Amino acid sequence: MTTDGEFEIFLATSPGFEPVLCKEAEAHGFKQPKVITGGVTVKGGWTEVWRANLELRGAGRVLARIGEFRAMHLAQLDKRARRIAWSEVLRPDVAFRVQATCKGSRIYHSGAAAQRIEKAIREELGAPPSADAEVIIKARIDDDLCTIAVDTSGESLHKRGHKEAVNKAPMRETLASLFLRQCGYVGTEPVVDPMCGSGTFIIEAAEIAAGLKPGRSRHFAFEQLATFDEAAWKKLKATTDRPKTGLRFFGSDLDAGAIRMSRANAERAGVSEMTEFVELAVTELMAPSGPPGLVIVNPPYGDRIGDRDNLQPLYRSLGQTLRSRFGGWRVGLITSEASLAKATGLQFLPPGGPVSHGGLRVTLFRTEPLK
Ligand SMILES: C[S@@+](CC[C@H](N)C(=O)[O-])C[C@H]1O[C@@H](n2cnc3c(N)ncnc32)[C@H](O)[C@@H]1O
Repeated sequence: MTTDGEFEIFLATSPGFEPVLCKEAEAHGFKQPKVITGGVTVKGGWTEVWRANLELRGAGRVLARIGEFRAMHLAQLDKRARRIAWSEVLRPDVAFRVQATCKGSRIYHSGAAAQRIEKAIREELGAPPSADAEVIIKARIDDDLCTIAVDTSGESLHKRGHKEAVNKAPMRETLASLFLRQCGYVGTEPVVDPMCGSGTFIIEAAEIAAGLKPGRSRHFAFEQLATFDEAAWKKLKATTDRPKTGLRFFGSDLDAGAIRMSRANAERAGVSEMTEFVELAVTELMAPSGPPGLVIVNPPYGDRIGDRDNLQPLYRSLGQTLRSRFGGWRVGLITSEASLAKATGLQFLPPGGPVSHGGLRVTLFRTEPLK
């Protein structure tokens, strides 16, 4: 930590999404956003840590980097870990645990490294270590340089606190928001998802339009830290940045269960008045009346051998529906196979790189407004 109380804040995301998250951090006024492997770093103090957890839709978790030192062996790690002002960050009455990783370093045993740091904190601060503690200290030893961070999020940030019902292949809210951003969606146009599953894209899009903060309903690990200021946090949560919108958001799916889930999830998120979910095969889909906007969809993937051929007709009929009935709308299609995207017959812009989603490499294929 520097004397002005600022430190490096790491915003984690799925590989491939770093530049998109960087743009989001920039748009939210975070200082010195920088893309690094696996995430983005920004500069700030504890208020920015809370704000990142509360406002950023794309970050998977937020780490506060509170210390950095060289450590060539375990005794040195122990000694230098004790020099961190633990009482400024952790509470002696709150359980904690330590996770460590080692790469290209003389200290190579991550379990032993974690134990040493845990012992140092326990002895210096008196806080109890516990295997299931919500407060996690993450130590990364890379090329003999040990970086100490606090995981300020706790449960992964895709858990907004609204979704109870999920279908088979749900899109994480964090990734859905980044795909929406990549499609140029900023909350000022209607959105349609004709294979909506549990409604992730539609609920995210509606929340963005309504200016609802993604972390408004959940608990965070930082609430358990010594740096937490409840009054300041409440004030931060109460601020809004967008007026009410008349926009509407439409999800449909062949599966009646998916539609029930979507409605329940939208209700819990407080966007049911802006959203509409209908049980419908993609071939029956019509464009909603009003101005055009964005169609975003992740159809079933070709993740098993043979699926690719079986799924071709589905992608073809999705393409036919969109080409014949969605003039003026842009399309964002997420799939694991370029050949399936091609089967839609839609004219896609050159795609960006693939991103990881549920163990798969998926790519966003985007169109200009359809003719
Ligand atoms: C990969 S999932 C979408 C997941 C969704 N984005 C979410 O976050 O939950 C694909 C969805 O396509 C739906 N689907 C498959 N064939 C369909 C068809 N012909 N018409 C409409 N929906 C279909 C499935 O029921 C499934 O919910």
